[in-house]
Amino acid sequence: DTTPFTLVLFGAAGDLARRRLVPSLYALWCDGALPEHWQLLGVSRSALTSDEWRAELADALEGEVADDFLARVGYVSADATDPQALGSLRERLEGQRCIFYLATRADLYAGITRALEEAGLISGQSRMVLEKPIGLDYASAEAIETSVRGCFDERQIFRIDHYLGKETVQNLLVLRFANSIFESQWNHRYIDHIQITIAESGSVAGRGAFYDEVGALRDMVQNHLLQLLCMTAMEPPNTLDADAVRDEKVKVLRALRPMEITTIAEEVVRGQYTAGANGEAGYTEDAGVRDSATETFVAMRVAIDNWRWAGVPFYLRTGKRLPERTCEIVVHFRPVPHSIFPQQRASMANRLVFRLQPDEGIQLSFSEKRPGAAMDIRMSELSLNPQTLRRERAPDAYERLLSDVIQDNQTLFVRHDELMAAWDWVDPILQNWRDSGVRPEPYRAGTWGPSAATMLLARDGRLWDERE
Ligand code: BG6
Repeated sequence: DTTPFTLVLFGAAGDLARRRLVPSLYALWCDGALPEHWQLLGVSRSALTSDEWRAELADALEGEVADDFLARVGYVSADATDPQALGSLRERLEGQRCIFYLATRADLYAGITRALEEAGLISGQSRMVLEKPIGLDYASAEAIETSVRGCFDERQIFRIDHYLGKETVQNLLVLRFANSIFESQWNHRYIDHIQITIAESGSVAGRGAFYDEVGALRDMVQNHLLQLLCMTAMEPPNTLDADAVRDEKVKVLRALRPMEITTIAEEVVRGQYTAGANGEAGYTEDAGVRDSATETFVAMRVAIDNWRWAGVPFYLRTGKRLPERTCEIVVHFRPVPHSIFPQQRASMANRLVFRLQPDEGIQLSFSEKRPGAAMDIRMSELSLNPQTLRRERAPDAYERLLSDVIQDNQTLFVRHDELMAAWDWVDPILQNWRDSGVRPEPYRAGTWGPSAATMLLARDGRLWDERE
């Protein structure tokens, strides 16, 4: 698409803008992936001049920052919920294809939308990009959605979940739907269970004020983990069309077995990190709060009540301050029905690993004969995309997604009904935590979460995957 655009970035002085969004735009620009004419206008309340913001960006961007790039960047200090303040941009934005990107707190989304509308900045050409989490629960998400949808058509709204922009997630689609050998196995007859882990070694230091209100369930599960689950579990869409894909994802969300108030304590583990053995600070210190019932870790057992997945548990977990940064979807196949090899243990069943982080790749583990005279068997790994591993630079998910917004492709963005179905499923868990007053279980920074997380699988005779 060669149509010029203006990216109006709200929350421009924030962490996300500096760490991910602007660097991704810059990478696209360096790759020659942007149209000839575009500009970036940062908006935020911080009192900065355009020159100061450019200087900040130049610091944050790696390598030689081309002056040509910075020449297209401007900054306006304004309260984005004030129609008058936004009105001053009218002349500047007149007749342009504006992409409004909201990287602020979600409780400002409705106010910013209203101000854009009153300032007369919205046209049929405009696009609206919303960062997650949209809302803090079903009701607040619905209120935001009502405001935004009052001013923009669904085709103009891009709800971003950057996990969908990760290369391996798209590769998962290709692997599943461009190969006939996997799809035939992709069901309860051959799959024993599936584990999805997003582990982070980092803490919440620096964003405690935001995080303490949100917690891991809203920050990671409601969006990233459920989206990964949808991509893994959905039926084959009939085309790669945005709505065809999203129709299938929303069906998965609606088939999630609702968490019953009586079983939440059994199915969902909630943790909060405490000081670690190597002097790492605990959560309350990192977040700068005195006392907190916010969870930094969630593990859960999820059932999908449909024909394909009957009886196949999906174990999800995510947390801060875990031993390493890793993200994997691991499909555990059933063991062979009858083994003729004495050394073969049930744990030697096939596994298909989709690794999103820190490196990318898809691996199949399978049994093979150990070379030699004896009939010994062992597990071996086959990389299904060895070239990916040799790539020098994995593009950031935001590059892919920003480029999709510019090209008006919604396939990797979350639709309204999907968002609401995800909140609908998560809401009872939030309510139960609030009403029961149960506090998260402590775990030491640098460990794999509270022991209850291990028990969640042990109860089913299973173990969490560990990276070799
Ligand atoms: C964000 C969360 O959506 O995803 C952060 O708000 C988290 O808490 C981040 O650290 C992880 O993203 P990535 O791409 O670094 O794994």
